[in-house]
Amino acid sequence: MSASDAGRRIRHVTSINDLSNSEIEDVFSLAAHYLKTLGDSSYRIGRSTNAAAGRILACLFLEPSTRTRLSFESAMQRLGGSTISITDPNASSAAKGESLADAIRMLSGYADAIVLRHPRDGAAKCAAEFASVPVVNGGDGAHEHPTQTLADLFTLLRERGAISGLTVAIAGDLKGGRTVHSLCYALARFGANINLMPAPGLDLPAHVLNRLHDEFACTPIANSNAAVDALYVTRFQKERSSDEARNYPKIDPDFLSNPRFANASVLHPLPRVDELDPALDGDPRAAYMRQASYGVPVRMALLTRLLGLDGKSLAPQQGPAAKQISNKTCPNAHCITHDFTERKFAVPRFTILQSGKRRLRCFYCETDLD
Ligand code: NCD
Repeated sequence: MSASDAGRRIRHVTSINDLSNSEIEDVFSLAAHYLKTLGDSSYRIGRSTNAAAGRILACLFLEPSTRTRLSFESAMQRLGGSTISITDPNASSAAKGESLADAIRMLSGYADAIVLRHPRDGAAKCAAEFASVPVVNGGDGAHEHPTQTLADLFTLLRERGAISGLTVAIAGDLKGGRTVHSLCYALARFGANINLMPAPGLDLPAHVLNRLHDEFACTPIANSNAAVDALYVTRFQKERSSDEARNYPKIDPDFLSNPRFANASVLHPLPRVDELDPALDGDPRAAYMRQASYGVPVRMALLTRLLGLDGKSLAPQQGPAAKQISNKTCPNAHCITHDFTERKFAVPRFTILQSGKRRLRCFYCETDLD
């Protein structure tokens, strides 16, 4: 069996687009159930079950993380399972030159599911190809961060009651922010309006905009003055940029005094640096700490489905076929296909896009190539 055959027999979550709207809604109703039955306040899980007893989650984190790794570990332990984790690339065999493909094949023998965080765009798709257990993308370079989006959407649902029809403004580093890319796809799919407020030079990548338009019939509006229902703030992704951020938006009480934000919930995937003033923490519009807490029930629900813990599991993946095309390489220099160690396993492959102008999409990082 080839690596990609192994990867296709199970469900992975490498992109928010690996989950259908009804699967996301099902995860949210299970997360709400966990909050109701195991929560000790309106937004925090306080008790545990033993649904995942005997199961192991591996967290392979090759880039810094606080919330994603710890909320996955908390979620698995709240479900009665256990976790094994790599938290420092220098303390793993990655430092000896081991490929991601080999690490994933090996971890498939040690654990029942794997969460990966990796600095390269498209690393999660590469990992999924070599895994024989479900792989969840915990953030791969500037590509995507689908489980953060699940926490973001769940927060919007709880704060605003629905997602369809909301107007969500997204501020900051829309170029390097992987949470933004997954969130935009999901907002478009659930019928929200997107209002872009990029820092200068940090606009949403063209391939994300094209996809929103071509596949999800969504045209984000830039810098409108209309009232918004939610403001999603992001930090400058300095680890993915060689430039300094200039005129980066700073969200503080003065900024939020504009009438268009009078009724806006404020979200942030965190960590915050200087872009979100702690003076807002006591403001009723500030939802970011609740958003971080919701990461646990949402990840509990996703793990429940991925591991088939209550008899219901997600059907195997049916991704589009990707082909090698002679002389074609991915135009994104940060793509996993350009990594010296990984390129033996992540061989450039593309899906052919039929909509509009004929384009190729990198199978791994999903950057388009005309
Ligand atoms: C985000 C990430 O890692 O992409 N953090 C998180 O997982 N909550 C956002 C960020 O680091 O800016």
